[in-house]
Formats: sequence, structure tokens, C-alpha cells
Amino acid sequence: MNNQKNMMHTLPVEAYTSKKWFDLEQEHIFSKTWQFAGLIEDVENAGDYISVQAGLNNIFVVKGRDNRLRAFHNMCRHRGTQLLRAVGKGQKAITCPYHDWTYDLEGKLVSIPKKEEEFPDLCNKELHECGLNLHEASVDIFKGMLFVHPDKNAPNIMTFFGEVEPYLGPHIPEELIEYQKNKDEPFYAKEINANWKIVVENYIDQYHLAHLHEGTLNMYDHAKAEFGWAGPHYHFYEPLVPEYLADIKNASPFPLIDKMPENKMGAYVPWLFPNIGITESESAWNTFHAIPLAPDRTLVVIRSKTMNVSEWEYTKQYTKSMTSKVWKTIGNKGKYEGDASDPMASGDFMAEDVYACEQQQKSLSSPFFSVGAQAQKGEFAVSKFQSVVKEWIEKHRNDA
Ligand SMILES: [Fe+2]
Repeated sequence: MNNQKNMMHTLPVEAYTSKKWFDLEQEHIFSKTWQFAGLIEDVENAGDYISVQAGLNNIFVVKGRDNRLRAFHNMCRHRGTQLLRAVGKGQKAITCPYHDWTYDLEGKLVSIPKKEEEFPDLCNKELHECGLNLHEASVDIFKGMLFVHPDKNAPNIMTFFGEVEPYLGPHIPEELIEYQKNKDEPFYAKEINANWKIVVENYIDQYHLAHLHEGTLNMYDHAKAEFGWAGPHYHFYEPLVPEYLADIKNASPFPLIDKMPENKMGAYVPWLFPNIGITESESAWNTFHAIPLAPDRTLVVIRSKTMNVSEWEYTKQYTKSMTSKVWKTIGNKGKYEGDASDPMASGDFMAEDVYACEQQQKSLSSPFFSVGAQAQKGEFAVSKFQSVVKEWIEKHRNDA
């Protein structure tokens, strides 16, 4: 399968369609990297927890009574049943729903029903000395984001993200608050019918910005984009176009993030390996989490943070933005003419990206599919990302 026809640059087409590759990635990439779990405010108080799938491992992060964050593998030491579901607040202890084995927030086994009767072997010891405490994992914080690693002895998070940090925006996410358009659906979540790598490649592809998004991302100066690689991570920055910058105080849809000097404004759009992008702009800070569900399905969850100001300030800014003259000249227009329900006529850049990803995935099954040529500058990141995926799998396969 290694002839040119069946390659997506560096990886075979099969890497985007087969269960075999999906499983390899789960084992050797997603189980061996720091995985995004949420924002620090998700676990604000003692007993608050959040769980996340990290490759082959389900892991939860819990804040202890000592206010320390800890991460554990989310399975009972009795017979492996999942202990905690999704997110929760104020948990006093962790009890397995199957047979009610109970652990404290520090992961120690503290009670087993009918211990004396049913487990004579465990009787002579204190429960926490039985070797049946929860398996520990690692948790750490990077830019207000929680990350977990299945290995309790994972290397320090800054050895992983340190190289890319200088290229991120000057934003302080901890000072911003989560923007919720709709209280019942706090996050934007969208299932995309494409392999997770197609979604990543679209995110890091500079070449398409001026084309697919010719009507939707005109506030940024694509010709002045600066981008490159730092370790396994991609970094990207592009400034605002002068016309938009000149009217930014009115045109910005959200209140401007303060402490941001004008010469630092623009879009910082890094991709942190393997599957979390950050989109940092003059008025918002977003996480873009691409979660592989199947070889041809990816869940994208976007969380947005904006300035911590009153509702009234938001409304005022929104009104100013709606009436700003700059929008009359720079957007948002669809790529095609037509009904707004057509993603290509919607004037919504996210809908345009989803459309492009899904169409590309569809073509992978065609016997006539091949990639033509690669843009030297604008698409270099695509094949570089594929090389990182390949190297990561090979490295951990050899370690195993
Ligand atoms: Fe795009």
C-alpha cells in the first residue's frame, strides 16, 4: 500500500479509514501523551471531579480535601467497573456502583461491604494496605487547562509544552470567564464525519484560509501569517488587517480582552499535539478539542472564554459591532450564493471547515483518490503533522 496513489503525503490513506490505525493511535498516541481534560474551574472545590478518556484509559481528576488535584484511573480495583461518570460536584467519597467498594478522595480503599464475611484474606490488614487503592495517573495545569496522563510518573508537563509556550498569545485564560450562549448547551459540540487527523490538518493548513474562507475570515491578514513547529506542536499567528484594527473598538463582537497591546492583537492558533487546538483572539480564547470516536468520526468540543464583564457590557459591544461600518466591507459572506442552511453559503467559517473535512473523508474510499501536489509553505504543516503521528507510533511501539 505504499505507492504514491495510496498516500496522504506521509501517511497511508488507510491511516484515515482503518480500525487498525485507530487502535494503534489509541494505544501509542492517546495513551502516551498529556490529554486535555477540561478547565481548572471545572474542579474548583473539594470533591469536584471530571472524567476523560485518554486513549485506552478512562481517568478522573478530583480535588481533594487538601485542595490538591489528583488523577486516578476510573475503575474499581474489585472488578474494574467505572467509578465516576462525566462531571460532578462536592463528592465526599468515591463508591463503585457495582458492589459499593468505597475509596476516599485520595484514592485509598476505605470500605468494602461484608468484608469479614466475604474476604477473609483481606481481614487482617487495614484496607488501604491491601494493595487495592486506585491506580494513580498524573494531572497538571497548562494555561488554565487541565491535562491528564495515564502514567503516574509522566514527565513534567512543561517538558512537553515548554517549547511551544513562547508562541502562544499573551492571554491569561484564568482571568477570563466561560462564555455560554445557551445555558442548556454550555459548549459547542459537533460530530464530524471525518478522521481526527483530517480535522487537525484542516486546522493547521494555512493555504485554505484565503480560499475556503474568502468571505468569512477577512479580519485577519493571511499574507502576514507566521507559523512553524515547536517540538510536536504547531504554532500560528496572523495579525488583524489594518482596516479592522482601525475600528476594532467598535467592530469586535465581544468586549476586547484588556492588557492586550495593539501590536499583539491578532489570531494565535496553535495546535498542541495530539488533539487540542487553542484559538486566541483579541476578544476570545477558545479550546478546540478533537476527540476521535471512530476511524471516520470525530467529536469537536469548543469552549470559549471572554472578558469578565457585565451582561450589559456584552450587549453594548454586540450592538456596536453590528453597526460597525467595517463589517460592510469585510464579511461575513458565504463562499457560494444560496440558502444559509448550505454550509458553503452560511458565512460561518466553522461550517465551511466541517464541510471540507467531510467531503475529503468521503473521497478517501474512491479508487481514483490521490493527493495532487503539496503547497510548499501553506501546506507544509500537514505532512509535518503526519510525520509526528508516524514517529510517535513507531517510538512507542518500539518501547512496548
Ligand atoms: Fe478553516
